Amino acid sequence: MFPGEVFANTADFDTGIRHLLPRYDEMLDAIALCLPSTTKAVLELGCGTGELSLKILKRCPDAQLVAVDYSPRMIQFAKKKIHAAGYADRWTGIEADFGDWANHALELGESFDACVSSLAIHHLSDEMKLKLFQRIGESLNPGGVFWNADPILPESPVMQEIYQTAREEWTLQQGTTLAEIRDKIGKSNPQGYSSQDQLATLTSHLKMLTNSGFTTVAIPWKYYGLAVFGGFVG
Ligand SMILES: C[S@@+](CC[C@H](N)C(=O)[O-])C[C@H]1O[C@@H](n2cnc3c(N)ncnc32)[C@H](O)[C@@H]1O
Repeated sequence: MFPGEVFANTADFDTGIRHLLPRYDEMLDAIALCLPSTTKAVLELGCGTGELSLKILKRCPDAQLVAVDYSPRMIQFAKKKIHAAGYADRWTGIEADFGDWANHALELGESFDACVSSLAIHHLSDEMKLKLFQRIGESLNPGGVFWNADPILPESPVMQEIYQTAREEWTLQQGTTLAEIRDKIGKSNPQGYSSQDQLATLTSHLKMLTNSGFTTVAIPWKYYGLAVFGGFVG
């Protein structure tokens, strides 16, 4: 399995991720809401099973979305759902590593109005996160936006415990246990530029964005150890 695929069986992802992470839908909805509904060209990094793609295509009726994921089975799964929802003509899935794009070894287009990502970029090292943010900044049109949802590195051991308790309580409220969900989680090995979680603090993410040319940075959503953050280029 590749880092980020999470579940051994891709068909378990959509239910499993909602049990594993608090407020998954609310978090993705926050990204969609941060995109102007008139947005036309969108790049999504690490689209997985296409849940964020679906929300964006619904919110932005004129959007053409290029979705990148290095996992063939995730892209296939997403494609089926996008086609079933009637969005085939507005969605292009590309099987590629977004680390290659960050390193200018892959072209995806240069003039996007928005770049989005959820639960994927935290698999990169901090050095690659910075390169990726710079690449995103370069590829956005003036006034373009980037919004990313990711787990963040807890600010201290006490905060780590609090974030962990919040996740456990959420999972129990869903009528399951972390142990039950973990049974469905597969074991991944490093792949391309990604490996298991390489979390950074929210403060460090914001610094990287500022250093990558984002003129306004913001955190439109946060719930314990999960955050949506990003900003605008001038
Ligand atoms: C946890 S899933 C999240 C999927 C989706 N964005 C969501 O929120 O449901 C992370 C996805 O990122 C992809 N991914 C991780 N690192 C990647 C990389 N370097 N290049 C392309 N895709 C990557 C994985 O294959 C996986 O589909």
